[in-house]
Amino acid sequence: MATYKIPEMESEEFALWQTLLEKRTGLWLPESRKVFLIAALSRHLKEKGLSNYSELYSKLDAGAISVLDWATLVDSLTVHETCYYRDIPSLKVVSSYCRNKALNGFQNEPNKPQHIQVWSVGCSTGEEAYTLAIELDKVNMGLKESCDREIYYGVTAVDISYPSLAVAREGIYAARQLDFVPQSTKNFYFNRLQDEYYQIKQQVRQRTCFIQSNVLELGKKNTQKFDVIYCQNVLIYFRQERKRQVIDQLTKRLKPGGLLVLGHGEITHVESEELTRVDNKHCLAFLKKDDVN
Ligand SMILES: C[S@@+](CC[C@H](N)C(=O)[O-])C[C@H]1O[C@@H](n2cnc3c(N)ncnc32)[C@H](O)[C@@H]1O
Repeated sequence: MATYKIPEMESEEFALWQTLLEKRTGLWLPESRKVFLIAALSRHLKEKGLSNYSELYSKLDAGAISVLDWATLVDSLTVHETCYYRDIPSLKVVSSYCRNKALNGFQNEPNKPQHIQVWSVGCSTGEEAYTLAIELDKVNMGLKESCDREIYYGVTAVDISYPSLAVAREGIYAARQLDFVPQSTKNFYFNRLQDEYYQIKQQVRQRTCFIQSNVLELGKKNTQKFDVIYCQNVLIYFRQERKRQVIDQLTKRLKPGGLLVLGHGEITHVESEELTRVDNKHCLAFLKKDDVN
């Protein structure tokens, strides 16, 4: 059987691919990840019977490659690493924000039900979104116990990757993904399956929905607004100007007074008249001003 020889890629060609990927996904592929690009592209060349990268590039640029093929390519170039309870200081900020928001609501509008909508942006295989739903459930149980009132809450989670979202919807995880989950939380919110696998319980799944979406297109889609937007370890792969554009779009989708949580060190400086940094050195969170829509 003839062996397939992976074609070389010149610097100018690599630069073209870098630009195409950034334009469509925001992802800026550094030179150090060129080998991943070559590996992913050469698989496609082989599958499609094409002989060089420029042929594939022209097809992609002209939209002559199926959405599915493009999605597979993007998927193989993006980092999907995640786990439950990945960033505990940020989660504490979210819980305390939601509890205070509900208590203020109960006080100011005693007859009105209190709703909290959370958005997990770049949710990968779902661990972050389910962690947020678990934390909201705990806030809700605490409110029931302390003041006999409940909140209505939901987590909407988006990602560009179809395969990651399929895993998220199934909600089954290897034990190592749950390494940081407190034992009592594990017992309460997960069903233990065979072979060291766990499934998140229905009570959490029914509060969570997963949707395919590209953060570069947030401005084009519906304009639902959220109380909390949680976007961690996504912008880290974007260049500075892109990060700013996405943060502006996320800010637009926050309700007045809403909370935006980014990953620690994800961006060095956020310049926005509408946001005030939360005074907590262990996380990167911002509050949207109350009087901005
Ligand atoms: C490293 S994971 C982060 C997962 C989770 N937020 C966390 O912190 O554990 C990054 C995720 O961002 C997604 N992503 C990258 N570019 C995206 C884009 N343009 N739109 C939506 N999601 C994107 C990737 O598919 C990947 O699942």
